[in-house]
Amino acid sequence: MNNIEQTLSIVKPDAVERNLEGKIKEMFLNNGFKIVQEKKIQIEKHEAEKFYKVHEIKPFYNDLCAYLSSGPIVVMILEKENAIVANRELMGSTNPKDAAEGTIRKKFGISIDKNSVHGSDSVENAKIEIDFFFKS
Ligand code: CDP
Ligand code: MG
Repeated sequence: MNNIEQTLSIVKPDAVERNLEGKIKEMFLNNGFKIVQEKKIQIEKHEAEKFYKVHEIKPFYNDLCAYLSSGPIVVMILEKENAIVANRELMGSTNPKDAAEGTIRKKFGISIDKNSVHGSDSVENAKIEIDFFFKS
């Protein structure tokens, strides 16, 4: 049975800064994702804190929020069969050192914090994250 889903993807500041937006979008398209909506924005630190609220108690939370708001990002709604899991697979492990060959983070990630992309991790969070950036 068809299970078309939407997920939120972010090209993070390290990747936008290195002009990797086009290459990363090409990887999504080559893997059968449709880019339903996209925009390039820069967010304030307090918005990053809201977006990453699930990580509030983690030791890396403050640096993570400072980083996500440090420069332009590209936010996209991706659509595909089982998009959430498919995008997590295409992104690769959080730490680029552990990411499989052919994944976005293996190709472009610099370090665990500058790992080039974000992707929603569940159906519930995909809805919340899409609304966060695209709710009209
Ligand atoms: O992004 P992903 O879902 O793979 O990982 P996460 O565990 O939800 O963490 C969110 C983000 O926090 C990661 O993508 C990293 O950029 C950052 N992070 C970090 O800076 N240091 C860690 N030890 C773990 C995560
Ligand atoms: Mg996550």
